Amino acid sequence: MKRSALVADVIVVPMRKRHLTQVMRIEAKVYPRPWSLGIFLSELNLTDSRHYYVAQSGRKVVGYCGMMTAVGEGHITNIAVDPEFWGIQVATRLLVNAFEVGLRTGVKDMTLEVRASNSRAQRLYFRFGFVPVGVRKSYYKENNEDAIVMWTYNIDSPSFEARLLEIKEGLNVGEITGNS
Ligand SMILES: CC(C)(COP(=O)(O)OP(=O)(O)OC[C@H]1O[C@@H](n2cnc3c(N)ncnc32)[C@H](O)[C@@H]1OP(=O)(O)O)[C@@H](O)C(=O)NCCC(=O)NCCS
Repeated sequence: MKRSALVADVIVVPMRKRHLTQVMRIEAKVYPRPWSLGIFLSELNLTDSRHYYVAQSGRKVVGYCGMMTAVGEGHITNIAVDPEFWGIQVATRLLVNAFEVGLRTGVKDMTLEVRASNSRAQRLYFRFGFVPVGVRKSYYKENNEDAIVMWTYNIDSPSFEARLLEIKEGLNVGEITGNS
């Protein structure tokens, strides 16, 4: 199937254990130190504070995103897309969903860490209003790379709602179907 045809069918649904084989395959493709199965399982067990979703086309998992929430803050713990599906807004859709889940669960501010060299991911985050606020030195141990800490604030404000709506309207296909 063509990539463009595939993305037309993409939906965002809660991550379940049955997705993990495919999730871990993507994880191994995109990260030098992929999360283990144990990490994903323990995250999925923390149902009060963790919100994990996959982007799926049919039965194929093409990306995923996790968020931890506490005291009005949302922390994006992981977001990745199968490289074969980069650049067709899968991550954008996953982030829109994460913000919507965050808003439903009382999140006001969102944060994440990103590699200093990962300008592609940083451009994605800028579109969602994330700004760099600090650096964690040598956070990524395998190459001593710094992490940039990014935050986006007041996601429940009218101006942020307008930003989110604009991003949603720019999505080329389909509907965000995440529901927790
Ligand atoms: C970073 C990552 C998640 C992005 O996933 P993606 O699905 O390709 O992202 P999207 O398609 O939603 O958006 C990214 C690209 O599409 C373009 N795009 C998205 N929506 C667009 C729109 N409406 N109009 C024009 N361009 C758009 C963006 O400009 C961007 O391209 P860029 O390289 O010029 O910035 C993916 O590259 C990945 O998995 N990387 C490895 C793991 C990783 O680094 N994760 C982040 C850890 S912090």
